[in-house]
Amino acid sequence: MLPSAPHPNQLDQEKKLAAAAALRWVQDGMVLGLGTGSTAAHFISLLGEAVRNGQLRVQATATSQASEAQARELGIPLLQPRRGLRFDLTIDGADELDPQLRLIKGGGGALLREKVLANASDYLLIIADSTKLVPQLGQFPLPLEVVPFALPWVLDAVAELGGAPVLRPDRRNPQEPARSDQGNLLVDCHFNQIPDPAQVAAQLKTIPGLVEHGLFLGLARAALVVQSEQVMAVRP
Ligand code: 5RP
Repeated sequence: MLPSAPHPNQLDQEKKLAAAAALRWVQDGMVLGLGTGSTAAHFISLLGEAVRNGQLRVQATATSQASEAQARELGIPLLQPRRGLRFDLTIDGADELDPQLRLIKGGGGALLREKVLANASDYLLIIADSTKLVPQLGQFPLPLEVVPFALPWVLDAVAELGGAPVLRPDRRNPQEPARSDQGNLLVDCHFNQIPDPAQVAAQLKTIPGLVEHGLFLGLARAALVVQSEQVMAVRP
């Protein structure tokens, strides 16, 4: 018999635990990158509390309009993108991570901004529940951000690479396609397994109109993964 999937409440508890552990990595005065998704939202909420209590003074940039709105509402001082801006620490979730800390991200559609901030960060810390750590990437469909005009050719090209691409529907209005914060389309590409993520990433980078893919390689420095109610640090 297959092991049963953890209950959603248990997963949410794990996400909260990981977020609380990540808050201890934040030092006064840091410039932070804020991730996107339910785990990152827990972190932003705890960070907002610490800022409100005067425990921490930080400045931050968010990886999505949703995270930015949450941070603004909680009174976290926000920085807009500008030349020279770097982040001491970015805290973000992931859809899958392997023991070498290679990631699949973009389940929340924010892969492009997430990769931009990860790249501008001295330290990318991933926070994740117990379902995210996998021996090999690829069970989770790989998110792609695609310029609308290029969609048919991008679909052909990723199919040639062995993926099964599906245009992501909008969650609230499934007749319409989902759009990224940039107004681009989101495609979920089913590979089932990605034994050589570097090779797939290199191939995807050659496809015109494919703005970004959700493979994050060599970017994460550590992950806090909750397993059996314990926070475990994973380093590559
Ligand atoms: C958003 C992401 C998220 O980090 C990823 O989807 C994980 O989300 P959650 O914390 O809700 O499980 O990459 O683009």
